[in-house]
Amino acid sequence: MSVKVEEIKRQIDQFRVEASEQLEEFRLKFLSKKSELQELVGEIKNVAPELRKEFGQKVNDLKQYAQQLFDAHKSRVEDSGTQYNNDLDVTRPSTLYSAGSLHPVSIVMNEVCEIFEKIGFSTVSGPDIEDDWHVFSALNFPQEHPARDMQDTFFVNLNPELLLRTHTSSLQVRTMESCRPPIRVICPGRVYRNETITARSHCIFHQVEGLYIAQDVSFAEMKQVLLFFAREMFGPETKIRLRPSYFPFTEPSAEMDIECKICGGKGCNVCKYSGWVEILGCGMVDPNVLENCGINPEKYSGYAFGLGIERMAMLKFKINDIRLYFENDVRFLQQFANV
Ligand code: PHE
Repeated sequence: MSVKVEEIKRQIDQFRVEASEQLEEFRLKFLSKKSELQELVGEIKNVAPELRKEFGQKVNDLKQYAQQLFDAHKSRVEDSGTQYNNDLDVTRPSTLYSAGSLHPVSIVMNEVCEIFEKIGFSTVSGPDIEDDWHVFSALNFPQEHPARDMQDTFFVNLNPELLLRTHTSSLQVRTMESCRPPIRVICPGRVYRNETITARSHCIFHQVEGLYIAQDVSFAEMKQVLLFFAREMFGPETKIRLRPSYFPFTEPSAEMDIECKICGGKGCNVCKYSGWVEILGCGMVDPNVLENCGINPEKYSGYAFGLGIERMAMLKFKINDIRLYFENDVRFLQQFANV
């Protein structure tokens, strides 16, 4: 009989409990009414009287031991919270959660940057909160220019010397101040203008501006680079046209249109029935700007351009209201998941 007690003790010690299933097996095997151990309890009364006390003690000790071990296993299994299972296959692919996707503005911004990176432009970034020098003065804006007005630009209340950049040309200034030519950079970023929010304009939008400074840079070179860009972006047949324009920091200046992608040039409400849509401003960097940034205008020349990403994405994805970009409506955003 004592041998039986020893045997059960050994079984108890060897029993591995790692999850709730084994915990239940343990209970059935060693603690339930039908367990061998319980049978031994029933045997006590049949043992010869002189041995009964000792045997009874052993069986009861073992019962107590099994119960303590069970309690310990139980709290361990519950604490771990993990239901280990021998059938667990850790190599099985997990449930696929639908991940978020890129915002249409990011998609187009990345695409624009990649096109220019392919032809040797490097990407630079810098602060959204700027000073007057980098946004206006260095770029040849006259003191009375309307962009310097509170109506057009957000100034920082606590320090009126600071403002939210109205274009990323501020990064062109920072680059010219810190690097020597040849300079070939693009400056993507968010810009801010104090405008009424409508379907066509917003007080926040994104730009990619570009700058190339070297010796003997020509307008023709700029035109060819911009044509390359338009065709990479909108397809190999894309036509462009340059119209004379004015910016304080470029001379001569131009605006570039592409043939309307919505109507194919026939005329529609997006191109206001002209067949053309404006996509960017550009021009040869004004010598005053080079000088303001410590670059000798006798020796170097260059071109700059700047384009609005929201406008470009509107054309590409046929989006008709700029406010959609900032509303974060998943029904809108989900449409770009597979672009
Ligand atoms: N900075 C101009 C704007 O924000 C765009 C531009 C950049 C025009 C470079 C010409 C040259 O509208």
